[in-house]
Amino acid sequence: MSNAVMESKPSVPDEIPTFTATLIIRRFDPDVDTEPRWQDFDVELHGTDRVLDALHKIKWEQDGSLTFRRSCAHGVCGSDAMRINGRNRLACKTLIKDLDISQPIYVEAIKGLPLEKDLVVDMEPFFDSFKSVNPFLMAGGLPKDGKERKQSPVERARFDDTTKCILCAACTSSCPVFWTDGQYFGPAAIVNAHRFIFDSRDENAQVRLDILNDKEGVWRCRTTFNCTDACPRGIQVTQAIAEVKQAILRGKP
Ligand code: SF4
Ligand code: FES
Repeated sequence: MSNAVMESKPSVPDEIPTFTATLIIRRFDPDVDTEPRWQDFDVELHGTDRVLDALHKIKWEQDGSLTFRRSCAHGVCGSDAMRINGRNRLACKTLIKDLDISQPIYVEAIKGLPLEKDLVVDMEPFFDSFKSVNPFLMAGGLPKDGKERKQSPVERARFDDTTKCILCAACTSSCPVFWTDGQYFGPAAIVNAHRFIFDSRDENAQVRLDILNDKEGVWRCRTTFNCTDACPRGIQVTQAIAEVKQAILRGKP
């Protein structure tokens, strides 16, 4: 007779139900295609999955050539903005269960920036606009006490909203003015200018206001609110643009 101890089997939780969703993805391979084309994929998913999980399943199990950007997978790095059912969103923050899966889910690259491959666009023009507004603290000399540049909670709160930007480009690439023109600085650059224009420690607000008073600056905004609707961080983008316009007209308050 064996002395082996019979271990009781751990109880297996009920299997999480799965379902099949259809993703229709706008593909483009510059080595093969002259025009983008739509391709269907059926994917087995859980209700807790996000669009990013669906894209990973397709890439790992069906078509390794599917190309998209992502890094953190948690809404922090801003690298996976894309158009999902016609709206700019982060794939890693869009739950499949919040979409109507009785219909196909359409996924395509953000608009207004050069398409490189599948869901990847060239972000250089976007970052060029961002860099052109001097998105960093500009303050000369030493702090009064020689140690630190102090700021009250009220002064800090003045620009809190615009500190939340993760440079995903969802706002800029949802803007019809940016689509048609490509020269417009775009909402994200203005948001990041706002962040420093209204920082009490910064001494060069006027430099940024002069840059944004350009013909490609804030006056191109037509207040369509697409940018505010698209922002995955909930930043009041249109309001920030309006505040910069006010500061150009009346000076930094
Ligand atoms: S303002 Fe919002 S949508 Fe625009 S780049 Fe920043 S985080 Fe993205
Ligand atoms: S992967 Fe980083 S924000 Fe979505």
